[in-house]
Amino acid sequence: MTRVVRVRPEAPDPASIAEAGAVLRAGGLCAFPTETVYGLGALALSEDAVRAIFAAKGRPADNPLIVHVLELDDARALTCAITPLAERLAERFWPGPLTLVLPRAAVVPSIVTAGGDTVAVRAPSHPVARALLAEVGAPIAAPSANRSNEVSPTRAEHVVASLGDRVALVLDGGPCDRGIESTVVDATGDAPVILRPGSITRAEIEDACGVAVGTGVTAGARRSPGQLARHYAPRATLRLVPAAALSAEMARASASAARVVALTPGPSPYPGRALPDEPVGYAAGLYDALHELDARADVIIAVLPPDGDAWEGVLDRLRRAAHEGGDA
Ligand code: TXA
Ligand code: MG
Repeated sequence: MTRVVRVRPEAPDPASIAEAGAVLRAGGLCAFPTETVYGLGALALSEDAVRAIFAAKGRPADNPLIVHVLELDDARALTCAITPLAERLAERFWPGPLTLVLPRAAVVPSIVTAGGDTVAVRAPSHPVARALLAEVGAPIAAPSANRSNEVSPTRAEHVVASLGDRVALVLDGGPCDRGIESTVVDATGDAPVILRPGSITRAEIEDACGVAVGTGVTAGARRSPGQLARHYAPRATLRLVPAAALSAEMARASASAARVVALTPGPSPYPGRALPDEPVGYAAGLYDALHELDARADVIIAVLPPDGDAWEGVLDRLRRAAHEGGDA
């Protein structure tokens, strides 16, 4: 049985953190909240512990993990060359939802990096994640705490529903604020390249660096192998449509499926979920909405968010949920 331990998100009690730390130190798996989504943690420098993450998730061995640290100085130990670009980005956005891809140091087991010569590192801001990092005094590898290809968890209930007793302990710190994963940036070169859009926007990164930001493929790092079209997918069919097509699509889908719901930015006259009409609030509620709608619908008609950089992370997740986007 999975043990679920409630903790106050702002001030987790030390006994709960100590219990979670003991699970990790023994080589076990512990799920914990971060500001983005729940992570499935294991000691990053223990090959056996990390192997258990891949097994619990059913994650292909070619998809590397993000290593979580408290601060930039801890990241230095994991990379053989922290770039000026990485320092700048870390200074601006850490602790927070930005992951930096850097040249890997030999201390990082190759299972973590999927055999690659780069390592992804981030310093989370969530007090529970930070308390756990301080407790174990070592880097924690943590992908999202869901079975591979399922919707990421933003509540402890989502973790338990997806992983069940594949995880020993879940620290339940309530819902995650940001709601979509960190932005993954290749920081191996002179200019940042976004490998996965996320919680920190392109405009914020450009503002911090003073240079244009690329997307997708780089010379130094490969694309994020995890960016497959099938990621973040609910079981229900999700169809992504322009706002103007919503009523026609609802009618069309209702003709052939019993349970059809709408997922919209802002209110809609249909059953389903109306998320906030701005990107931060929408992102915060997106995965929770997908989990909930997936449980009670066969078809989800999702209305495309407005254009604009601030919606990039949300649009990426919606496209993947609809099996449209991605590198596949
Ligand atoms: O917000 C987040 O980033 C959450 C929380 C728990 O920190 N973690 C998360 O991990 O989303 P995961 O494993 O679900 O996604 C990690 C992404 C994958 O797309 C993976 O391919 C990419 O980061 N990645 C990891 N290491 C990489 C590397 N060395 N080079 C390029 N991409 C990498
Ligand atoms: Mg994931």
